[in-house]
Amino acid sequence: MIQTVRGTFDILPDELPRWRLVEETARAVFRCYGYREIRTPIFERTELFARSVGEETDIVAKEMYTFMDRSGESLSLRPESTASVVRAYIQHKMWTWGSVVKLFYIGPHFRYERPQKGRFRQFHQIGAEAIGQTDDPAIDAELIEMVEEYLERLGVRERVLFLNSVGCAQCRPAYVRRLKDALADAIPRMCENCRRRYEVNPLRILDCKVEDDQPLIERAPALVDHLCSACAAHFEALRRHLEARGIAYRIAPRLVRGLDYYTRTAFEITGARLGAQNAIAGGGRYDGLSELLGGPPAKGIGFALGVERLLLALPEEAAVADEAPDLYIAYLGAAARQHAFRLARRLRREGLIVLYDFEERRLRRLLAQADRVRARYAVLIGDEELAAGRYTLRDMRTGAQEALSEDALVQKLAASRSPAASASR
Ligand code: HAM
Repeated sequence: MIQTVRGTFDILPDELPRWRLVEETARAVFRCYGYREIRTPIFERTELFARSVGEETDIVAKEMYTFMDRSGESLSLRPESTASVVRAYIQHKMWTWGSVVKLFYIGPHFRYERPQKGRFRQFHQIGAEAIGQTDDPAIDAELIEMVEEYLERLGVRERVLFLNSVGCAQCRPAYVRRLKDALADAIPRMCENCRRRYEVNPLRILDCKVEDDQPLIERAPALVDHLCSACAAHFEALRRHLEARGIAYRIAPRLVRGLDYYTRTAFEITGARLGAQNAIAGGGRYDGLSELLGGPPAKGIGFALGVERLLLALPEEAAVADEAPDLYIAYLGAAARQHAFRLARRLRREGLIVLYDFEERRLRRLLAQADRVRARYAVLIGDEELAAGRYTLRDMRTGAQEALSEDALVQKLAASRSPAASASR
């Protein structure tokens, strides 16, 4: 029996209403902030991710699905979308669109990680990027407000916003030297990962989760205490903006994120009930990424959230039922069957959800079936109804029945749909 690949899963029809809810809410909220949807390819040249996310990151070094295509080109399934969106910004000369271009995306991403609760190999992100000519911290604050508004609208109340600044190309090298000095004595006693990171990506040591390493890392200097004056002022201004918007946050001096393109603002939002993988959303600023990819100078900030994790954090009552059918057609006999098909087509054109079965059943079984599929109404068509030119319409909630002509029936059913239900169709 062939099953789904480890770390991947089917999203079944019963689960889809929750997926649609989070996707549609994202579209509704992001729209109000001026973000427009973009869809980039699911695979890109490997080099795009290597250059932006960073060769030495876990994502690029260990987790990408990389393959050669038939012409010998190295391609990778996207592990994230910031690189792709910045590529698109450059490729389509989006700087001509306006001073800040706001884009969002929804879709599958791929990382070869060890699957566990909230961690998959194919997972889904909802993300947004604001790219342009200014690094005004008000843009950062507005983006963070948007994520908060989104989570609030979905009822995800138990969450914490962690904030840090990771500095820039001016101040980070000096901090990294300090960090290495401070850890020089301890590093031989630290985990293998930290020892490797000490050489290739020392900042990532701050993200180590190994318990024995924690007391040693606690002693390391904090990045926020060693920012250059421009970065310090940016961070300070961002904090004031968040406070003015009434957004609560906690400073997380060790928050460094797992991607190399970040400058200044870095943030994560964690949720309850998630276990070890408790980061629902993460993001930050990536000024200079455009230049790194061969584009014009540009500043950027963005975030992405994991849909699977968001669904774990979603309150139970957010489970919305899939739409029930408006009508179940119960027919008896070959002539009635043809009639049923024609009537169904007419009603479906009106936007109604109409079901019937393909195999013949007895009347009792037909009504039981209408009940099982939770149909609002059932209509009975048999020889008698055909002869009379009137159908028996049964209200499945009350059991009340009435005989109606086809036109009257179509009219009644079309009117029975609530305006909200028809708008969502
Ligand atoms: P990231 O922190 O690598 O950032 O991923 C963002 C979110 O995607 C995580 O917080 C998590 O919820 C979800 N996620 C990541 N990996 C997995 C996985 N294996 N299984 C399930 N969920 C996962 C980025 O990807 C950046 N591109 C975010 C960003 C946008 N920064 C600036 N703009």
